[in-house]
This record gives sequence, C-alpha cells and structure tokens, in this order.
Amino acid sequence: MSEVEVFPVPAEWAKRAHLDQAAYEAACRRVEADPTGFWTDVARRLDWMTFPTEIKDVSFNKEDFHIRWYGDGILNVSVNCLDRHLATRGDQTAIIWEADDPHISTKLTYKELHARVCRMANVLKAKGVRKGDRVTIYLPMIPDAAVAMLACARIGAVHSVVFGGFSPDSIAGRIQDCDSKLVITADEGLRGGKVVPLKLNVDEALKTCPGVTDVIVIRRTQAEVPMTAGRDHFYSDLKDSVSDRCDPEPMNAEDPLFILYTSGSTGKPKGVLHTTGGYLAWASYTHELVFDYRPGEVFWCTADVGWVTGHSYVVYGPLANAATTVIFEGVPNYPTSSRFWEVCDRHQVEIFYTAPTAIRALMREGDAPVKATSRKSIRLLGTVGEPINPEAWLWYHRVVGEERCPIVDTWWQTETGATLMSPLPGATALKPGSCTKPLPGVKPQLVDADGKVLEGAINGNLCLTDSWPGQMRTVYGDHQRFFDTYFSTYPGKYFTGDGARRDEDGYYWITGRVDDVINVSGHRLGTAEIESALVGHDGVAEAAVVGYPHEIKGQGIYCYVTLRTDVEPSDSIRADLRQWVRREIGPFAAPDVIQFAPGLPKTRSGKIMRRILRKIAEDDLSNLGDTSTLADPAVVDDLVKNRGHRR
Ligand code: WTA
Repeated sequence: MSEVEVFPVPAEWAKRAHLDQAAYEAACRRVEADPTGFWTDVARRLDWMTFPTEIKDVSFNKEDFHIRWYGDGILNVSVNCLDRHLATRGDQTAIIWEADDPHISTKLTYKELHARVCRMANVLKAKGVRKGDRVTIYLPMIPDAAVAMLACARIGAVHSVVFGGFSPDSIAGRIQDCDSKLVITADEGLRGGKVVPLKLNVDEALKTCPGVTDVIVIRRTQAEVPMTAGRDHFYSDLKDSVSDRCDPEPMNAEDPLFILYTSGSTGKPKGVLHTTGGYLAWASYTHELVFDYRPGEVFWCTADVGWVTGHSYVVYGPLANAATTVIFEGVPNYPTSSRFWEVCDRHQVEIFYTAPTAIRALMREGDAPVKATSRKSIRLLGTVGEPINPEAWLWYHRVVGEERCPIVDTWWQTETGATLMSPLPGATALKPGSCTKPLPGVKPQLVDADGKVLEGAINGNLCLTDSWPGQMRTVYGDHQRFFDTYFSTYPGKYFTGDGARRDEDGYYWITGRVDDVINVSGHRLGTAEIESALVGHDGVAEAAVVGYPHEIKGQGIYCYVTLRTDVEPSDSIRADLRQWVRREIGPFAAPDVIQFAPGLPKTRSGKIMRRILRKIAEDDLSNLGDTSTLADPAVVDDLVKNRGHRR
C-alpha cells in the first residue's frame, strides 16, 4: 500500500464525544467481560412497557439456529419515537421537510407528528388492519412516509416500504410475497422536477394482486388519478373522521416491525425481516454513537425511506433520539448542483450523511457550486452504501467540510439493521476510504474461501462471528433461505457477502461484494434479477450480467445478451432492451452496456464462467485465466473483440 494520510481525532471532538478513544476501548472490553450488562444497558435507552430480563439468546449453528434479543421485553416503537419526547420536547421540530421545489419547506413538531401518526393509525384500523398484518408503503419523500411507517408501528402492523423508483412488476412481487392487504401511496411523486406516476404504477401492480382490498392515496401534486370505487380512498377524505389519539399496541421485542426487500445473488429479492426491540435499540444506539448525536441537533440523511438507510437514519434512529430530522424530496443536482449545501444553510444542518455516488457526481461539477454556499452549520459528515474512493473522500473533507468536519464512513447492510463498522468522531483517527473499526459488540472476522480464519493485515471474506441486536431475524416466509444464504457458507458465522482488507492498524477496508450482487449508485441489485428481466424479453435467448467499475455510479451494469437466432443485433433492439429492464425492475436498473454475444463462456457442464465476463467488462484482458476448460474457447475471442463501449 502507498502512504495513507491519517486524520487524527480533533481535540474538541474527543472532548465533547459520547465516547472518546479510551471510552470506546473500555466499551469493547466490557462487551467481552460482561456481555449481559453491556447489552442490558443498550436496552435502557428505550422506554419499555416491560423491561426485558432475557437479554441475548443466539445460536448461529445449524442444530439450534435462532436469534433472539430482549425476548421477554414489551414496548412500542412509535412511543419511543414520539410519545416519550412530548413532555419535554413537544414543541421541538421533529421533521423538516424540504420539497423538490426549493421554495417550499415545512416543519412538524413532535406534537404535530404524534397527532398525525395517531390519525393515520386510526385510519388503518378503520380499514381493518390488525396487529401482524402487512402494509405496503409506496410513497415519495414526504413527511407522510414517516407518518405511515410510525402509524403501522403504533398498531403493530408490519410495513413493507417499496422505493418509489420501482416498477409496477417489482411492486406486485413485493405485495404478493408478503401478502399485503393495504397499500399507502400518493397521486404522484416529484423528483428533480419530474413527475413519478406512483398511483398509476400501483394500479398496474394491483392487476396481479387480488388480495389488496384498500389503497390509501395521499395527495401530493393534486393530479387527477384514476380511483377504483370501493378500493381506493384519498387520505384527505378519511383522516378527519378519526381521532388524533390512538393507544399504542404493546409489542413483544421479537414481534416484526418491518419487512424490506433486498437483492441477493440468486432468485427474487428477499424480504428482510426486522423486529421491534433489538432493531430500535441498535438504530438508536448507532445513531447516537456514530454521529455523536445530542437531542435537538439538525440531522440530515439524504437516503430515500425506500432503502434501509432511510428506515434507520431518516426515521427510526433519529426520532428515537429526539432529533430534528430532514426529509428531502429532491435530488442533489436540482435545480442546481448547490442544492445539498443550500438546504444545509437554509435549515442549519449540523450533521450531513449521504452516499459516495452523490459525492462523486457533485465533485465532477467542481468546487464552485459548493463554495457558493456557507455550510458553516455542518460539523460532521457521513457516507454510506458503497466503498468511497479516497479522492472523493478527500474532496468531501476539503471542499465540503473545509477540513473542519470529520467524516464517518459507515459500513452496514439491510440485513444488519444499522451500522456495524464506522469511525466514531471523538474516538477514531480517520483514513480516507476505510470504515475503520467495529462498533462495540460487533465482531468481524476475515476468512479465506475455505473458511480458514485469517489473522493480521490481510484480505478476506468478511464474516461476523456473533450477533448484535439489530440483526435481521429471517427472510419473510422462508426461514430456510435465511439460514442457507447467510450461515451455511461458513458454519457458525454470518457471512456478509463482502470482501474486506484489514490493515496493520486493524482498520477495515471494504473491497466490495464477492457474490453476484452489484452496487449501482448505492442501489443494491442482484445480477440474477437483471438477467431474469432480460430473458423475459421475446428477442433474448440468454443473458449474463456483471458489474464493472463506473466513475460516478461506483459500479455500472454490463449485460451480455445472446439474441434468438431470428433476431438481428441492432441499436434499436439495444435501446429496446434498456427500456425493457427499466420497465421490468425500475429506472435505476437500466443497463449501462449491452454487448451482443453469439455465445457465453461456459464450462463443459454448462456453468457460465462469470469471472471471465467480469474481466472483459472491466477491460482487464491481461488476466483472463485459463480458458481451456471452456466448452468452446473461441467464444471468449469474440467477446473480447466486440466488447462494449461503456457509457
Ligand atoms: C455496501 C446499505 C463500503 C456493502 C446500508 C454492503 C459499503 C452493501 C458501505 C449493503 C461502506 C454499504 N463502505 N461498502 N461504508 N456501506 N456498503 O443492503 O457491499 O443497500 O454489503 O445497505 O453495500 O447494501 P444495502
């Protein structure tokens, strides 16, 4: 490795922090010495109706596989995010909403948010939603998204938020998988000045979801949308006939809170299930530690609530910690590339958390749009979702943060509920591109392909040898798949699917996925999903999809497509396939490169050799490896000769 610049902990951070370096190390020691005491204290940050006495009950082994945290505790998530703040912080702003249109923003106090959540909870009850029922939420980034999530939590319904960029087909698959009876959506969404036809997408999806009996429609743009009598209702017509008080449902800590679908290396997206007590404790604990958060500070996480980052760091973590959280409807470059920083100035944002892809896109626009703003309110910066390249990190640090703000590079996954590895601003010296060290209680381990444990400074596959409260509990409806996906590769351990390097200081550097998952602009996609969309097209005989390094998106989508023999390769079919994938999955899944391939490299047993396809897509031809075992080695020559132009 070349010299890595190290950024020491600023003295004022060490002084003010919840945990300075000594306290961090003490916490790590305490988890070893007294795990029950440590995890009991983590639970104390929540308000319980019945405080748990069973703290941790976990086995990752096949014979008695189970994961339970705080298993006899009783609580309600919405009480923890709302009611308990009312006495002292009822008039504090809970949510600042910044609309897509930069002239519009509104604020909601904790009192107002509480009343809105109760109303929506009562509306859901009136529509027959009961504890344990699933509710699908397909909304733009408006306060009602948080209201809908919390309303479900209040009555014990399990929400499944579907990102507004997903297609009707993707919505339908997610509704069917968890058997939602009710969908909450909006007439339309607005992003970067463009309309997203949310209600029309839901209508299309529901053609294959006969189980949905009710659709609640929030008016966002006031556009006229078709309404199916008996099934579809405008929220504005329902909300005034119910009370703004609603008793919270007492929930067991292990009762489900939400399902969130995420892509894996095989098959259709998995319904990642998170439960009530452990998830909220971990979201709240990590939000406080990683951002060194104190109640009332203005916190902005730019993620959409359709992804896990939005769940844990727009809604649950911040609100559990009595934050003022910003909900932003728009995009980083609308109307101009100064937008993020203007919003920070307007709302005096103190902690700003975004994705490397956004940083890289803004970096490309130069320093001027940043320097046109003040940003004096910002004290701390964060990143999440994909590895950040040191150039982008340094630009973020130097230009956006004026070398004043530490950067927390938080590594985690939908499955982990909230952050597992990250610097703590008052405890950890920073190295650009490294997520540094595990949080107290988190036990990473590197192993080789055979599962041999690797020590010292080395590269390997990243596992976790023990549980933490925010760990997912199952794949909805398929517990066997949960075990097989995460616990069977390296018995007794949770396998993350990520590769990582550990350096001589024990810092971790995530190198990216080692499975067939790709990370495109921070959006997680399974190559298998894109392949299955492609072969759904009439003209396609076979398809293989891999990722390749992309300057802005992190990874781009490279598709090898074998057309049916009666279909001629052409630019028009290429455009058609792009459009097809957009329609099948969603616009963010549109292929970057489509290469027509008369054949794919396969072993004699018919297995596609993805390693070769990855190398060609990466333009790394020096290292194609042994192709002699291929059924038809000549295929590779054709792929190399005709390799696609990357966008
Ligand atoms: C990647 C998003 C490097 C990683 C919270 C992981 C990261 C996947 C980082 C999960 C980071 C997330 N540095 N890589 N700080 N954060 N990743 O489920 O490959 O959408 O496995 O959760 O994103 O993506 P997911």
